[in-house]
Amino acid sequence: MGETIFEELKRYVGFGDEDAVALRTLYPVAAPHFERISVVFYDRILAHEGARKALEGGESQVGHLKHTLVGWMGELFHGPWDEPYFEVRARIGRKHVAIALPQHYMFGAMNVLRQELNAVVDDAYLREPKKLQAARIAVGKILDLELAVMLHTYREDLLSQQARAERLSTFGQLVGSIGHELRNPLGVMESSLYILKGRIGEDARANKHVERIGEQLGIANTIIKDLLDMIRDRPLSAQRLRMKDVLEMAANQLHLSLGLEPLAALPEVEGDPNQLRQVFVNLLDNASDAAGETGWVRVEGSVEGGRVAVAIEDSGKGVDETTRRRLFEPLVTTKQKGIGLGLALVKRIVERHQGTVSYEPRGNGARFVVRLPEAGGNASLPDRG
Ligand code: HEM
Repeated sequence: MGETIFEELKRYVGFGDEDAVALRTLYPVAAPHFERISVVFYDRILAHEGARKALEGGESQVGHLKHTLVGWMGELFHGPWDEPYFEVRARIGRKHVAIALPQHYMFGAMNVLRQELNAVVDDAYLREPKKLQAARIAVGKILDLELAVMLHTYREDLLSQQARAERLSTFGQLVGSIGHELRNPLGVMESSLYILKGRIGEDARANKHVERIGEQLGIANTIIKDLLDMIRDRPLSAQRLRMKDVLEMAANQLHLSLGLEPLAALPEVEGDPNQLRQVFVNLLDNASDAAGETGWVRVEGSVEGGRVAVAIEDSGKGVDETTRRRLFEPLVTTKQKGIGLGLALVKRIVERHQGTVSYEPRGNGARFVVRLPEAGGNASLPDRG
């Protein structure tokens, strides 16, 4: 079997048996300092406005993390520095990646540990220069190794994003050609169905089936249209718009009646009415599906520092944690019907309007907020068709 990543990293930093011995010897000396060092560590993070943002869980999260860092230092000095060790460390690294912690913060953080642990070494081996040197070297190597593992997890993430982008681009080309080719046969079916409709007369069952075929053709056409919209950005034909009008068009298309009066007071935005209508058709359609016959769908508007925000909330069961992370990616769906393009398209269109869309639930149900720049602000739309 070839060398594992961890073996390769250990070889790179030159981590060997003598370092293992030095770390284990130092362990009982360093352990009483772990609590203090972990306080210093998180105080440093909290003192920096950017790094602090990652700790949004507040006091209780910091308390928990201090505790985990003490455990982390214990394993650092005790090992064994084997494959399961690497796996555990990589899992910690992936947690940082998952919360989108910028990787450059890792260097400074590791340096805090380096300074603190070196001070412990210096203090402990003041009169034993040989031991001091061996311990310093070992601490240096193991922390380099830890940093390398952390950065490895960021690289892992980048590679998987790249692979995903490549898959999507191949997928996009394939979808584009299949979608295009399917349009013709669907068109023929539609016109034949139209002719058939005129000929079947009063036969109730035949009429029912013809209607059903018509409905299914409609669904197939929508899927193809969404797929093609996904891969080809239609140019924006931008104009000044009132969100109330856009929402009204969307609600009418879905035969929904919603209280949209509060939106009348919102400032205008600049956008493509048809594409923005599509955004709200998709969001309202999801919301009304989730709410079901007995639930409710609510639309709210507000102004947030130069942005017009429209929130769509429903009384359904919301989106679970796992789906939430990938909610706006293509082919992610929780519906039985539908292939998971609706929200991906929403995101794409909103971003092309220099806006954002996010999932911000307040209670159990789902709540999506679309934010678009007010018309006449600094943001200008890139392309107009
Ligand atoms: C030398 C660098 C670091 C080490 C050794 C370290 C260690 C750890 C450990 C042991 C955990 C617990 C993982 C688990 O629950 O299994 C963790 C999670 C976490 N760390 Fe770090 N950390 C480092 C850098 C940072 C920095 C610089 C920040 C913030 C700026 C940070 C923020 C967090 C947060 C927010 C979590 C919780 C993630 C979650 O579970 O959602 N860490 N870290």
